[in-house]
Amino acid sequence: MTDTQTAVEMPQVSWTALGAAWTRAREGERADALFTDDLAPHFIAAVGDKAPYIEAGDQVLDGHDGDVLANPFTAMGDYVAIRTRWLDDLLRRAAADGIRQVVLLAAGLDTRAYRIEWPPELQLFELDLPDLIAFKEEVLRASGARPACARHAVSFDLREGWAGALRAAGFDATRPTAWLAEGLLHYLTPADNQQMLDDIGALSAPGSMLATDHIEAAMMGGDNAETADSTGLEYDQLVKGGPGEHPVRWLERSGWQVESRSPADCAVEYGRPIPPLLDPAVPGSVCEGALYLQARWHGGTRDAA
Ligand SMILES: C[S@@+](CC[C@H](N)C(=O)[O-])C[C@H]1O[C@@H](n2cnc3c(N)ncnc32)[C@H](O)[C@@H]1O
Repeated sequence: MTDTQTAVEMPQVSWTALGAAWTRAREGERADALFTDDLAPHFIAAVGDKAPYIEAGDQVLDGHDGDVLANPFTAMGDYVAIRTRWLDDLLRRAAADGIRQVVLLAAGLDTRAYRIEWPPELQLFELDLPDLIAFKEEVLRASGARPACARHAVSFDLREGWAGALRAAGFDATRPTAWLAEGLLHYLTPADNQQMLDDIGALSAPGSMLATDHIEAAMMGGDNAETADSTGLEYDQLVKGGPGEHPVRWLERSGWQVESRSPADCAVEYGRPIPPLLDPAVPGSVCEGALYLQARWHGGTRDAA
């Protein structure tokens, strides 16, 4: 372990956050970057050689041997980068429209608190599992970075009652909230997703919004069952079923008015090639039906399934 590395004890599902951070770090190196995340490389440096799959991903992107679809980080790379930009834009619009409370559910190593030009009074809550939060806080502290808003990191398992912890951290359910569940749904069972969505609804004042994404088919299909060999992450064990129904229907049933975009459409809008994972012309691509979703709360009650 070098001086910059830190001890990391995290459940496998939290290591996936490192993949997203790796993508954001690599995105920042591009001349046509969709965004920059100056803190992402700090997380990668902190784990160093404890994450061999990052090295494998670097080699693929640097043009050495390797199949872009065989490593989940390279396979997911453009999907995550385009999603990040789409959600950045969405959150900026929410703040411009007057939202002053943001909750990142399963925030992972997201650094939007630092890299978006928030109104300073905006309250931003980051929820994730305790080990992930501990690692993140240690790296952020060492970086000396200062958030652009009032940031609150909350350690909690979203499969348990988390509303109390959020309120205890200062969350105010009477104010409209922008909720983000990015890269999360497929790691929860349908029952856990529904409970989380019910909890979000119960905490949502009029004017609240929710954004999420859906890519379960890609995570479960293709060669992902074999990725443990190259990455150490057993995706076939990690993926738990997502909402269990079409995500638009799922959100609508629970009181949300939904708009969706396909990542491929967003790629075209941002001047990017369609990510290989989403391109039917690429052998091994498995992700039909991937969606980015934004929803407005209308306070309805849940319909029958
Ligand atoms: C793929 S990462 C996405 C992180 C971040 N939203 C992003 O897009 O960079 C998935 C995250 O979900 C978190 N997670 C998974 N299950 C969770 C649970 N039951 N409670 C809280 N967080 C959870 C993991 O710790 C991890 O940080």
